[in-house]
Amino acid sequence: MMNRREFLQFLGISGVLAKIPAEAFAKTAINSLPHLAANLEDKLLTVDGLQYKILMRWGDQINLTQKFGFNNDFIAFHPLQNDRGILWVNHEYVHPLFINGNDRTKANVDAEMLEVGGSLIEVKKIKDEWVFIKDSQYNRRLDANTKIPFAWHTPIAGSTVSIGTVSNCAGGKTPWGTILTCEENYDMVWGDHDRKGNKTPSGQSWNMIYPRPPEHYGWVVEVEPLTGNAKKLISMGRCAHECAAVTKGKDGKVVAYTGDDANDEHLYKFISDSKSSLEMGKLYVADLKKGEWISLDRKDQTILQKNFKDQTEIQIYTREAAKLVGATPLARPEDIEFDPLTGHVFVALTNNKNKNDYHGSILKIMENDNDPSSLKFSYETFLTGGENSIFSCPDNMVFDTKGNLWFTTDMAASSIGKAPYEHFGNNGLYVFIRSGSHAGEVIRVASAPVDAEFTGPCFSPDYKTLFLSVQHPGESSLTKDNPTSSWPDGKIPKSCVVSITGPVLNKIVQGKL
Ligand code: FEO
Ligand code: CA
Ligand code: CA
Ligand code: CA
Repeated sequence: MMNRREFLQFLGISGVLAKIPAEAFAKTAINSLPHLAANLEDKLLTVDGLQYKILMRWGDQINLTQKFGFNNDFIAFHPLQNDRGILWVNHEYVHPLFINGNDRTKANVDAEMLEVGGSLIEVKKIKDEWVFIKDSQYNRRLDANTKIPFAWHTPIAGSTVSIGTVSNCAGGKTPWGTILTCEENYDMVWGDHDRKGNKTPSGQSWNMIYPRPPEHYGWVVEVEPLTGNAKKLISMGRCAHECAAVTKGKDGKVVAYTGDDANDEHLYKFISDSKSSLEMGKLYVADLKKGEWISLDRKDQTILQKNFKDQTEIQIYTREAAKLVGATPLARPEDIEFDPLTGHVFVALTNNKNKNDYHGSILKIMENDNDPSSLKFSYETFLTGGENSIFSCPDNMVFDTKGNLWFTTDMAASSIGKAPYEHFGNNGLYVFIRSGSHAGEVIRVASAPVDAEFTGPCFSPDYKTLFLSVQHPGESSLTKDNPTSSWPDGKIPKSCVVSITGPVLNKIVQGKL
């Protein structure tokens, strides 16, 4: 049986592994590559030729009154002059045990509400190392108490303003330099209800102390990195938004893709009316069988006119509208990125255990005429998770300029090391190599501490540093005194942002591995 590289050479394909499930190949000749073996150590391990440094830890003071929040996730880099930049970092959720404890008192909930949202922090490159600038005017927090207006013509659940942003998972960047941060599992703290009043309980019960409308959460939030000013984009619908990946159509209009990370939920595309705003436009949902983007505009759909009183109601109950128009159920769409070599849209489908899809895959969407504004597309599976692929449960992704796909995995903390995940070790950072003698091969380049996942991979503008979040080490801990992880300091586990550098990274991003 041929390995991937031989098979690609046979096909004459230099880069993309199209329509070929990983299981079609024998195990790759990874010994010839820099490669990190699967392991279960409570360490951040890197392949030889890479190293990491901790840039920020949970609890670090970022200005006189505010601290770096819990469970950092998505990272975006906003460049400033002279080797400086602002990092936006999501803080997705808390593990109450490590804040003030599991008791649902007002004091404990108040403390937790300061830990979520996002951080803006200034960094500067000094002698090839990015360091945090403690006294920067740009250092600030958004949290569960920050007032954020809705960018919409009609109030949402009776208000034009929401209080706070929560469950900020992944995100994106706009062509005009703002940052998108996506509210994913907001029901974890605020609960939810459907249009009939059927309630979804909240695991962390903040709503018992502060009864806020769940309709105010589950949006894509746009943030100005210089000021921290924010608005919630009702235009892109409400669901468990993982991310928002923005590009431009051939007509110059802004197009944003976003996935709803839940079993059998959907992939959406928003086409803006404007070339410089995401506030107004049309939301579509993917029908993979027909290869069509279906409009969720009430004016276009008789079935939506029958079931929804106005467009605002469709935006709030997007999932319900999507199902009425025939959207395709997917295996938890997570991050979305654009291939810099082809423009194709890559979507991480992490898993769908309900359908015995334990390892997930990466989907490739090819828009007709390669135009993001097109309403027709074709698709294929780009990579399949599983033992032969050395990874399971792909989640966050980033391309480098040579088209190498760097991606992280998110096996649930409770599943790591156990069947059917026993072959993968801890969660990791992987690279799909795009060109050269190793084209088509996947390398594990880093391995996360116990229970953690890597999230938010983000390159510095010179592609010499990869910023990476180490999220939820020790998540399955039952007591603070005996945590399952003591990364990074040998004490209580702390989520961190690390910067990864080294000759192997430089070789890969230059296409010279
Ligand atoms: Fe927060 Fe879908 O990961
Ligand atoms: Ca994620
Ligand atoms: Ca990404
Ligand atoms: Ca995930």
